[in-house]
Amino acid sequence: MADLSTTYMGLALKNPILVASNSLTGTIDGVRRCAEAGAGAVVLKSLFEEQIVAETDALNQYADYTGAAEAYDYIQGYGMELGPQDYLKLVTQAKQSVPIPIIASLNCISSKRWTDYAIKLETAGADAIELNVGIMPTQAKLEGLRVIDQYLQILFDVKSRVKIPVAMKVGPYFTNFANFVDRLSHDRAEAPAYSVGWFGKNREVGNLTWKGADGLVLFNRYYRFDIDLENMALTHGNPFSSPNEIHYTLRWLSLLAGKAGCDLAGTTGIHTGQDVVKAILAGAKVVQICSTLYLNGLEQISRMKEDLGGWMDEHGYAKLCDMRGKLSQKMSKQPEHHERLQYLKLLSGIE
Ligand SMILES: Cc1cc2nc3c(=O)[nH]c(=O)nc-3n(C[C@H](O)[C@H](O)[C@H](O)COP(=O)(O)O)c2cc1C
Repeated sequence: MADLSTTYMGLALKNPILVASNSLTGTIDGVRRCAEAGAGAVVLKSLFEEQIVAETDALNQYADYTGAAEAYDYIQGYGMELGPQDYLKLVTQAKQSVPIPIIASLNCISSKRWTDYAIKLETAGADAIELNVGIMPTQAKLEGLRVIDQYLQILFDVKSRVKIPVAMKVGPYFTNFANFVDRLSHDRAEAPAYSVGWFGKNREVGNLTWKGADGLVLFNRYYRFDIDLENMALTHGNPFSSPNEIHYTLRWLSLLAGKAGCDLAGTTGIHTGQDVVKAILAGAKVVQICSTLYLNGLEQISRMKEDLGGWMDEHGYAKLCDMRGKLSQKMSKQPEHHERLQYLKLLSGIE
């Protein structure tokens, strides 16, 4: 039987199938069930800055109620100190309860909270941190490069404060994703300050070396915006992906494999063992799955592992590293095929 073990950001995993950050991984019971079901690792539900602020605000209200002016400032600090206690407890308990790596996930807005909470998650025992970064670029006067700088700034701030590996999980909307990944993922003697204003101008970098991300998770599948016609109100679309959504994930895994300076994790649209095979052939170190677990139950992890191992046996691959990236652009004799966007009549077969 093929060996499914691998590493991801330096963590040793029994298999490359991770449970992605979602509500199933937001409780200790859920984490245990994922581990029992055979996941290689678990990414905990994200801790959102809104939760941190809510907890601080709740304490502030208490300060208002007591009417003590000094208490307000004290409790403001106290709130930040305690923060979402339950989340930190979850990290520690998860580490104590299951033998697989625990990756904590963080989504903040302000720079201070990114770093403060990354440090707290490390202290709580997380094996790694996934930065769930999603910036909605709606400011018409903000240049595209400035938006990219915000992603890099977050990574820099966190990487320079924690020792555990750090991955960044991003959505699919970038003008030049290859350039973003190049800047994000490679260690450099200098910060990748291609755009004016970042580092040199606004920040003291001192002698800090730019440390690239340890992992890149592509792509987050964000909340689907929709409109409810009956109620004339905003609503949301299907929270679960369909297997049809794998194509963009595969495309970018295959374009980045062997070029990005970090491990690649594929997510969105990976529903079956065959999908895992595709992601690894494209160049993924691991996959992160979510929708298929809601749709097919946690038993899907075993099925996917079996199908992955079965495919490897059938095709003569003893280890994942023997097949990883075989169908990446870097290893292709026809690299232009990975960049094809338009259907040619000849290829579509439906005209
Ligand atoms: C109910 C639900 C909750 C999620 N919560 C988070 C989250 O807290 N943080 C995060 O980074 N991704 C979150 N995601 C996104 C998933 O981690 C995953 O990246 C996405 O669903 C694509 O993978 P899939 O096609 O296997 O579903 C959530 C997804 C769902 C369906």
